Parts: sequence; C-alpha cells; structure tokens
Amino acid sequence: PQPGATPTGDYDFIVVSNRLSVDRVVVDGESDWRRSPGGLVTALAPVMAQADGAWVGWNGAVDEPLDEFDHSGMHLVPVDLSQQEVELYYEGFANATLWPLYHDVIAPPEFHRTWWDAYRRVNRRFAEASAKAAAEGATVWVQDYQLQLVPAMLRQLRPDLRIGFFNHIPFPPLEIYAQLPWRQQVLEGLVGADLIGFQRPGDAQNFTRCVRRFLGTASRQGIFTVTDEDGSERRVEARSFPIAIDAQHIAELAADPDVIERARQIRHELGDPTTVLLGVDRLDYTKGIPHRLKAFGELLEDQRVSVEDCTLVQVASPSRERVEHYKTLREEVESTVGRINGTFDTLEKTAIRYLHQSYPVEEMVALYLAADVLLVTALRDGMNLVAKEYVAARTRNSGVLVLSEFTGAAEQLRQALLVNTHDIDGVKNAIVRAIHMEPREAARRMRAMRKQVLDHDVQRWSTDFLSALQEQR
Ligand code: G6P
Repeated sequence: PQPGATPTGDYDFIVVSNRLSVDRVVVDGESDWRRSPGGLVTALAPVMAQADGAWVGWNGAVDEPLDEFDHSGMHLVPVDLSQQEVELYYEGFANATLWPLYHDVIAPPEFHRTWWDAYRRVNRRFAEASAKAAAEGATVWVQDYQLQLVPAMLRQLRPDLRIGFFNHIPFPPLEIYAQLPWRQQVLEGLVGADLIGFQRPGDAQNFTRCVRRFLGTASRQGIFTVTDEDGSERRVEARSFPIAIDAQHIAELAADPDVIERARQIRHELGDPTTVLLGVDRLDYTKGIPHRLKAFGELLEDQRVSVEDCTLVQVASPSRERVEHYKTLREEVESTVGRINGTFDTLEKTAIRYLHQSYPVEEMVALYLAADVLLVTALRDGMNLVAKEYVAARTRNSGVLVLSEFTGAAEQLRQALLVNTHDIDGVKNAIVRAIHMEPREAARRMRAMRKQVLDHDVQRWSTDFLSALQEQR
C-alpha cells in the first residue's frame, strides 16, 4: 500500500447497515442482545450466518462504544452513535426526511440542514469502519437509505474494493425525489457503488431517471458510466433484485409440533373463532393500519362479519417511538381500536386483539398458522416480508393473503387478493371474499405463491446480487 493509505483489515466480505442483527437492550438492570426489528435484518441475518464475513452496524444503544464480537455465528463490528446523532441522523434525516420522502410523502418530510450535516458525518463513520475491516480487494455490500453516502466515501478511502449497494425501501419517482435539497449529493454517494440494487424494476427506473436529470448521466438499460475523482471511468449498473426470506427455515418451524400446538392454543385463547384475521407490522404510517381498522370496523357495523365468529389480531411492533409521526399514529391506532372494541365487544368476544409488542420468530410462525387470513394493507412498502413469511408458513396450502398493490411483494405474489388500500370498499370486499373463499380456490392460490417463495429464497437473492457484482468489473 502507498504511504498514508488507509490500512486494510481482515475481511473479504462485509455487510454494512445502519442496524446490526441484534440490539443492545437492558433487562432487569442487565444488558442483553435482542433481535433487531424490520425486514432488512429478517433477510440478511440468515445470509450472514452462512457467509464468512463481518457485519458493520449500529448496536441500537446510545453512547456505548463496544468492541467487535461474535453472535449467533456472525462477526459483528459495532458503530457507536451519540445521543445527538441518534436524534439528528437516525430519527431526523433517516426517518423524518428520507423515509417519508421515499414512501410517496405519505407523511410530509422535513428538511433541516443540521440533520443533513449529521447524516454526512455518520455516513463517514460507517465508511471508515468498513474501510478498516475490509481486506485488500474485498467486497463490501452497503444496505439501505440510512447509508446512501457510504459507497462514494468508501471508494475514496479504498479504491481497491468492490462495492455494492442495496436499497430495501422504494426509490421515489423523480417528481418527488426532486424535493430533496441534497438530491445531487445523495446520488453522487450512491454511484460510488459498482452495482446498485432495488426491490422493483420501477424503483431502478426511478433512480436512473434521477441520475440522468440531476447528475446529467445517461444510461442504457440501467447501465451507465461514471467518472471518478481521479478521472478514471467506471461502469455502474442499477437494477432490481427483489428481496426474499429464509423460506425453508419458516416452513420447518411451521412443521414443528411445539409451534403447531402453540397455534392451536392461540386460537383457543381467542375463543376458537371461526375466522382469525391477522395483521403484523411495525407500527409505521406506511403500513396502512388505520385503513385496515376502518375496513374491519365498517364490516362489523354493516354486520357482514360479527365478533361472534371473527377476530382480528393486530401485532404492531414498537418502532421509532420518539419520531413525531409515529407518536401520532400510535394515538390514532389505539383510539380506533378502543372505539371499535368498545362498540362491538361482548364480555366473551373481542373484535380486535391489539398487541403493541414484538415476538420471537417461533411465536410469529404460530400466529401465521393460527390465522385464516393475513391482511397486508401498506400504502407503500419496498417489499413486505411478512407476506412472504405467511405464505412460507402455510405448509398445508390453506389460508388467504390479502395484499396491497403498493408493496414490492405484490409483483411476485400474484395469486394473493390484491387490493388498493385507499379503496375502503375494495378492502372490505376482499376481506369478505377471503373469509368465504372455497378451500380449493385458497389452496390453488397458496400453492402457487408457496412455490414462488420457496424457489426464490434469500440465499438465492444474495447469490444473484453478489454474482452480478463480481461480473461488474
Ligand atoms: C425497514 C428498513 C430497515 C430498518 C427497519 C426497522 O425494514 O428498511 O433499514 O432497519 O425498517 O427500522 P429501524 O428504524 O428500527 O431500524
């Protein structure tokens, strides 16, 4: 290496994401590790458990510098965030600017220069941590909207690396992306990668349109040429790699006698209703939980369903609780649930069993097995892995998936009952149709969706991405 060059590390393969697979939590005064929330970790944890590499990311705690450590067969390299960085970078720029902007401005994004400064600073720290861990010529795979500047920063520090980027959330249409005051800088950060992956072909198209408009770089079929600082030219590709789950693992859990027994117990504890409807989401305004509750409440009111034979279980796991829009959403959801239950519950039966909690995967699979219908009514969702998990768990080909058109998953799970979440009557009709669907029709649909989910698992997703990245140069 040249004098003054960044020293190299030991790892030939590195994943970098805002969150590590586990979160630092304190239980009864003792600190412990808990699985991190969200689809990114659901998908990447099984990939990293098989791979020989390091995972660079935040440990979920504040001002708690930690050494590298091993956990569930993974080598984890923690990046520390201060209280102020959590507020400005994580709760601010990542989750009150980019998240709403990239999800169709369902909530209005806020633009603050102090948040942007923190985003840049923290992205640099992630880039430096990755540069330090990466061996000569290593492959570094950067994940998601929190770290869009890392590819270019990393390339500057370590031109020897092969750099991939994958965006787990939608990439917005140009007309919306254009609002971002730092639209050019963010694109410059992303094109530091050799390969930029998106969930849907439409996301990749939105991105290449933005690159053409704001960087003046034209592309052909997602392939374009970027000139680096040293004047050298580099080929960059943007295309879709729809993310998946460890389907075999979910199917195995669904066949586990303890999990099957737990599913039976759940139905019993709910009063053995004829139909169990289920919703599973992070408590996020992109998930369309109020729309789902409205539809269900109206069905009760119209007497098209009754609490005597139908219960909705809504798991809403806590998420980004200090961000304003999440607080308002929680109040809205909880008052709606209270109102619907107050109106329709009997002493014995409840309309909605609302659980503001998160559960281990075994309990989730038991819930999937206990549910006759899964309701996914997102207003916008990069993929939605809950839909894929439900399908993987339905080993007997029973059960119906009601799925929003506005999810990435809707492009692969074509045999679901697809709905436009904004069309409340349409959602209501789909729920009624799901409840009454003939077992033969349900089985035909579920079988086709199971084939899709089992054939395209997350190992295949990562192999597809990483081999495309190898071929880039
Ligand atoms: C989505 C994002 C992930 C994020 C997860 C949980 O799946 O794509 O990057 O980690 O939500 O959100 P949180 O803010 O708790 O990390």
